[in-house]
Amino acid sequence: MAEEFMIAQNLYKSFDEQKAVNGVSFTIYKGEIFGLLGPNGAGKTTTIRMLSTVLEPNQGDVIVGGHSVKHNADAVRNIIGVCPQELALYEDLSALDNMVFFGRMVGLSGKEARIQAMTHLELMGLTERAKGKVSKFSGGMKRRINLAIALMGHPELLFLDEPTVGVDPQSRNNIYETIENLRDNGMTILYTTHYMEEANRLCNRIAIMDGGQIIAIDTPYQLKAQIGPPEQVTLEDVFLKLTGRSLRD
Ligand SMILES: Nc1ncnc2c1ncn2[C@@H]1O[C@H](COP(=O)(O)OP(=O)(O)OP(=O)(O)O)[C@@H](O)[C@H]1O
Ligand SMILES: [Mg+2]
Repeated sequence: MAEEFMIAQNLYKSFDEQKAVNGVSFTIYKGEIFGLLGPNGAGKTTTIRMLSTVLEPNQGDVIVGGHSVKHNADAVRNIIGVCPQELALYEDLSALDNMVFFGRMVGLSGKEARIQAMTHLELMGLTERAKGKVSKFSGGMKRRINLAIALMGHPELLFLDEPTVGVDPQSRNNIYETIENLRDNGMTILYTTHYMEEANRLCNRIAIMDGGQIIAIDTPYQLKAQIGPPEQVTLEDVFLKLTGRSLRD
């Protein structure tokens, strides 16, 4: 029986009158890649911000590795890594200095931060650019550093909010392989993307959100089987069938 590693319990979040997240509950098992999909404005990032202790829910709680976000956010912060949707990088610093800075933020010594930074830069194929200023990097390189930073401190649970947006197929493949390797080495991962092919390839299970609620949750195969022969149906078919075709924003 798979171990429950993260449990979101009945989360709510409103901004002014708008209900961004409206009663969300789900479980992520240890060692899986869990996909959170949904149209623009569905509430994915708001959910991730609550799961990762950045935003306080109006209602509900999250348990990560046995710790409650509400009662022991510091213990949760110690075991998670976050790759935010908006790039969070210091443009005037080198890749290495960015990594060391964020490593120090998660409590590593300067020496340990440098060691981990070099390991993670290598993983992302960026060793040769370690000393280069981030402002000179391509979009794909910035995305890879954003992801490398999330690995500082060796988290047990990784939140990846659209890590491949605006990234070319070569860089994207590098990111997929990295993520699959991390999973194979025991990391648990929550993944959001608007690329359905990507979710189909990477995710063990997928939740589809719309209007602040989860409207389906299953393996990619079972989601496809809900609407037709799984070999002939794509995840995009499922997504459009469940969320409709109207624009959200
Ligand atoms: N800080 C905020 N203040 C006001 N409204 C917000 C704030 N953050 C999110 N919202 C609103 O909450 C809703 C959900 O937004 P959220 O960013 O969680 O969606 P998302 O699923 O991540 O969308 P996308 O795919 O575009 O990233 C949206 O209508 C958004 O405008
Ligand atoms: Mg988002």
